Amino acid sequence: MKVLLTGGAGYIGSTTAKALEQAGHTPVVLDSLLTGPRAFVRDRIFYEGDIADRDLLARVVDEHPDIEATIHMAARIVVPESVEKPYEYYRDNVAKSLELFDDLLALDKPRVLFSSSASLYAMKPGFEVTEQDPLDPPSPYARTKRMMETVLEDMAAATDLRAIILRYFNPIGSDPDLESGIYAREPSHVLGQLVMAAQGQKDAFTITGTQHPTRDGTGIRDYIHIWDLAQAHVRAIEVFDEVLAKVDAPSTVINVGTGAGVTVRELVASFERVFGQDVPITEAPPRPGDAVGAFANVDKASAVLGWTAALTIDDAIASALAWGRKRKEILGYA
Ligand SMILES: NC(=O)c1ccc[n+]([C@@H]2O[C@H](COP(=O)([O-])OP(=O)(O)OC[C@H]3O[C@@H](n4cnc5c(N)ncnc54)[C@H](O)[C@@H]3O)[C@@H](O)[C@H]2O)c1
Repeated sequence: MKVLLTGGAGYIGSTTAKALEQAGHTPVVLDSLLTGPRAFVRDRIFYEGDIADRDLLARVVDEHPDIEATIHMAARIVVPESVEKPYEYYRDNVAKSLELFDDLLALDKPRVLFSSSASLYAMKPGFEVTEQDPLDPPSPYARTKRMMETVLEDMAAATDLRAIILRYFNPIGSDPDLESGIYAREPSHVLGQLVMAAQGQKDAFTITGTQHPTRDGTGIRDYIHIWDLAQAHVRAIEVFDEVLAKVDAPSTVINVGTGAGVTVRELVASFERVFGQDVPITEAPPRPGDAVGAFANVDKASAVLGWTAALTIDDAIASALAWGRKRKEILGYA
C-alpha cells in the first residue's frame, strides 16, 4: 500500500516510514524540513515542501495516483514555543492542516490518520483516561491538536473524508536500527534530559514537581516505545476501513499508549537500572503549565485496532541511550 506521510522527516514520521516499509508498504514523504533533518528521509520517495502547497500536493498525487491513505504528522510541536508564537502554531497546525484536508478530499484521497496527543486530557483521579474522558488542552500547541480533531470530525460527518485520530501518549526511544531518534540539540523532554545527565552533558537531571497527587509526588506519564507507536500506524492503515466500520462512524479517536502509568521517579529508577549507574538528581517546583499527567486506557486500541504495545520501558530506555551515543554520526552534532 502506498501512503502519503506528512512530517516523514521527523522523529515519529521517520520511524513510521521504516515500519511501513518493513510491513511491505511504500511511504511517500512530504516534509518542509522546518525541523526534521534531511538525513532521516534517507532514500525514500520525498517531496520537500509545505502541506498547504496545493500545486505540490496535486503533483504528488499525479505522480503517485495509487496513494491509499495519508498519515498527517507534520506540525510544530514545542509547547513553550507555542505559548510565545501562537500565530505560527495556529497557522501551521490549524490553517495549513485545514487546507491539506480539503485538498485531499478534492484529490479523492479521503483516508486520513491524524497525530493527536494525550496532552488534551483534563486531569482525572486515578490518571487512567479513556477516549471519552473530558479534555482540557493546556497550551496553544495542545489546542491546535484539539481543533484539528474537531475539524476532522465535522468534515468526516459532512463529506467523504474519513479520519482515524490517534492520541499518542509519550513516545520515547529510537528506531531499532538507530537510524533516527530524538534530534533536538537539547531535548526538553524527560528521557532526553536523563540521557544528557547520564552522558555528563548536563550536571544533573531535574525532577520538576514533587508535590503532585501521584503515588510518589512526581508527574505520571505513559511512555510508549517509538517502534510500538510506529506499528500502531501500520496497523491503522491496514485496517482503516474496518476500524470505521466497527465503530460505525466516519471518524474515531483511539488512545495509543501502553496502558501503564509511570512516575518520573519510577522512570529515573528504570533508567539507572538500564544505564547501570546512578544519575545526579535535583528537585524543583513544577514549571508553569506542567501537567500531572495521565496514562492510556487501551481497551479501544486493542478491540478496534487489534494492536497493543509489545516493548518494555527498559527496551525504550536502552534504545534511547544507544541513539544518544550514535546520533552524532547521523546528525553531525551530539
Ligand atoms: N513527540 C511527541 O511526544 C508527540 C506526542 C503526541 C503527538 N505528537 C504529534 O506527532 C507528530 C510528529 O511529531 P514528532 O515528534 O515526530 O515531531 P517532529 O517535529 O520531529 O516532526 C514534525 C515534522 O513536520 C515537519 N513540518 C512541520 N510543519 C510542516 C509543514 N507546514 N509542511 C511540511 N512539513 C512540516 C517538520 O519539518 C518535521 O519533520 C506531530 O503532529 C506531533 O504533534 C508528538
